Amino acid sequence: MTHEIAVIPGDGIGQEVTPAALEVLEALPVDFEFVHGEAGDETLAERGEALPAETRELAEEADATLFGAAGETAADVILPLRSAVGSFANVRPARAYPGLDAVQPDTDLVFIRENTEGVYAGIESEITEGVTTCTRVITEDASREIAEYGFRYAKQNGYDDVTIAHKANVMRTTDGLFLDVAESVGDERGADYDTALMDALAMHLIQRPEEYGVVICPNLAGDMLSDLAAGLVGGLGLLPSANVGHENALFEPVHGSAPDIAGQGVANPSAMILSAAMLLDHLGYVEAGDRVRTAVEDVLDEGPHTPDLGGDAPTEDVTDAIVDRL
Ligand code: NAI
Ligand code: MG
Repeated sequence: MTHEIAVIPGDGIGQEVTPAALEVLEALPVDFEFVHGEAGDETLAERGEALPAETRELAEEADATLFGAAGETAADVILPLRSAVGSFANVRPARAYPGLDAVQPDTDLVFIRENTEGVYAGIESEITEGVTTCTRVITEDASREIAEYGFRYAKQNGYDDVTIAHKANVMRTTDGLFLDVAESVGDERGADYDTALMDALAMHLIQRPEEYGVVICPNLAGDMLSDLAAGLVGGLGLLPSANVGHENALFEPVHGSAPDIAGQGVANPSAMILSAAMLLDHLGYVEAGDRVRTAVEDVLDEGPHTPDLGGDAPTEDVTDAIVDRL
């Protein structure tokens, strides 16, 4: 069966790492048809809107979407795209790789971040000059969905440690609900899990990340803790992510458009290629996904490396080395 993949490179290094991921996918025995869409700062300048309706529709209708990065328009592009694919879960693995200088070489974490509500529900107001509010939305349904996804993910991917992150001692009503629901999902499944206050968890993740595996988080906590974990494993050039919905999904590196290095051909393609591996898993090509991950790991171990990892190889040479190993 042919799968339709929407490809939206976006801005800056998005335009350099997306072709690298396509080269990798094209080297595999998979039946994909790619449809291409525009979005981002350049699209805004040329067409007056950062996310044209036709690009949004491509993502809505495709079986999966590969997104590079947007620049200043990121919020106007990625938030509507995530909702176009009906994404409820943001999956962010942060693993240390052999051969690289990680702050914590034993890190193997996966953040399962609620992707629709919390303080990112977008309900803010200025009550009067100098007084602003933000409404934090936590629902039983969304909490149950993210907890079920997280426990299922842990089981399917062999993680023994599941931690529910929360701040229910302060946000008693909202995180109280999140915690109650997530705990009851764990109990119903007979799963082993811990709960952790998110501030203390941030410290423990830095001191002893090896004690953690899957971390189920409300929206903002997942955003922050996963970036913290990026720092533990060697930087943004390595971190992939998935925005999973019921019918389709969007895959993107955690990094942005990196204007400081854009146009030089030296962006690390690993995060984007690992995002493509998550896309393969999602569409059922788990063996192909594993092959891609192994090829990326081998190249991270043996080189060539882009400048962010201390090497001097261009994006193209790293991509070629990964494709050769496939
Ligand atoms: P960034 O992720 O673009 O860059 C942060 C630092 O990491 C830079 O020094 C950059 O050179 C480096 N870096 C990132 N990815 C790299 C890669 N693959 N290889 C080598 N080095 C890499 O974040 P920053 O600088 O905060 O934001 C730049 C622009 O990107 C902003 O306009 C922001 O709005 C946008 N952005 C977009 C996102 C998205 O589309 N999902 C996410 C984050 C930022
Ligand atoms: Mg972030």
